[in-house]
Amino acid sequence: MPSATLTIAGTLLLPHGARGVRLGDACGHVITEGDRIRVVDPARRAPAADLGDESCLIVPAFTDCHLHLPQFDVIGVDGLELLDWLERAVFPAEMKWADVDFARAMATRVADELLSFGTTAVAAYATSHFASTQAAIDALADKGLSGHVGQSLMDRHGPSSLLVPAPAALSQAASLRARGRVTPAVTPRFAVACSDALLAGCGTLAKRSGWLVQTHLAETEREMETMRRLHPERSYAEVYDRAGLLGPRTILGHGIHLGDEDRALLAARGAAIAHCPTANRFLDAGEMDLARHAAKGVATCLGSDVGAGPDRSMVRVARAMIDAAKQVARGRPERHGDFPRASEAWWRITEGNARAIGLPDRGALSPGRDADLLVVRPTKPWRDSPDPLSTLLYAWDDRWIEAVVSQGVVRHDAR
Ligand code: GUN
Ligand code: ZN
Repeated sequence: MPSATLTIAGTLLLPHGARGVRLGDACGHVITEGDRIRVVDPARRAPAADLGDESCLIVPAFTDCHLHLPQFDVIGVDGLELLDWLERAVFPAEMKWADVDFARAMATRVADELLSFGTTAVAAYATSHFASTQAAIDALADKGLSGHVGQSLMDRHGPSSLLVPAPAALSQAASLRARGRVTPAVTPRFAVACSDALLAGCGTLAKRSGWLVQTHLAETEREMETMRRLHPERSYAEVYDRAGLLGPRTILGHGIHLGDEDRALLAARGAAIAHCPTANRFLDAGEMDLARHAAKGVATCLGSDVGAGPDRSMVRVARAMIDAAKQVARGRPERHGDFPRASEAWWRITEGNARAIGLPDRGALSPGRDADLLVVRPTKPWRDSPDPLSTLLYAWDDRWIEAVVSQGVVRHDAR
């Protein structure tokens, strides 16, 4: 039987240079076949389109490099420092995942929510519950999402019902199974909540499995003080390095309060920082210096970090990245104009993020790539703007998303 095809009409958001995108000059079309893109024509309208028309844009679907599935219902719990916020808002929400049926239903609901915002690939945290993490992997895969979901491992400094002793935690995490295009991730929550034995076991599991590693690093000053107390002898990044957790398949959430020695270590290992600007703003965590990370060779990607981050839309996260970079540059004449532009912002939430989490076939409208894309109908005359990519970024309205295609299937249809 021939694979199902979709013909989609609209102006294309196309790759441009190493880290950018450009808009096609006219209404073009994309044809998908099975789960891949077969035809990309930026200039000719398709004779009969299944989706889209000359008023639409075709955009690669978004990838979110850092989010917490169980935290979607506690977005916006305000006024707390990270460690208090974890105690008061997050841990009670995560305890609910002791019930596998609840976890499965919530993960399914969150998958629908992500799709409705145009996100089809993720690096996500579940909870410390093994069966619920497996249920979340299965639920996301069944909804057509791709990426990584990890059992959020912690064996200290948390409520006892969320702590799993290192040997049990490690054997559970090792027996998680991939489903569809969702793979388990090695996910020690952060070094504050993980013993040395748990971190070292995670390093071994990462080496053996080849799975993505995700954890948190240097998010707030109070977390840094706690780490200095727990590990007076080494820096935060060194703690992960000693456990064998830093490598080119490592994604570290936040990385705000870092010195240049830690930056050099991350750069040498090829580990990437998931910059989460909306979450940093919400928790008042500090200002992440994206330009300095880049200057020191540290790779970065972008995450919503729901529920510290209130926004599920990666477009809003990309905007917040620009805002945060402007804030860091303020009052420093040598940094004037040193912030990412819209072209890079679009690239980051599409191809850049996808590459960062090991999905090289994602995030670009090119033949042979994954058929994960959005049909968008902007209500602004963006073509008349002197800077259409920036107008689209800043005027973006999630209601413009008319259809979300993942693996060649329409998963969200708002027509
Ligand atoms: N650090 C450790 N756990 C978490 C979490 O769930 N969210 C955020 N933002 N930071 C963390
Ligand atoms: Zn996080």
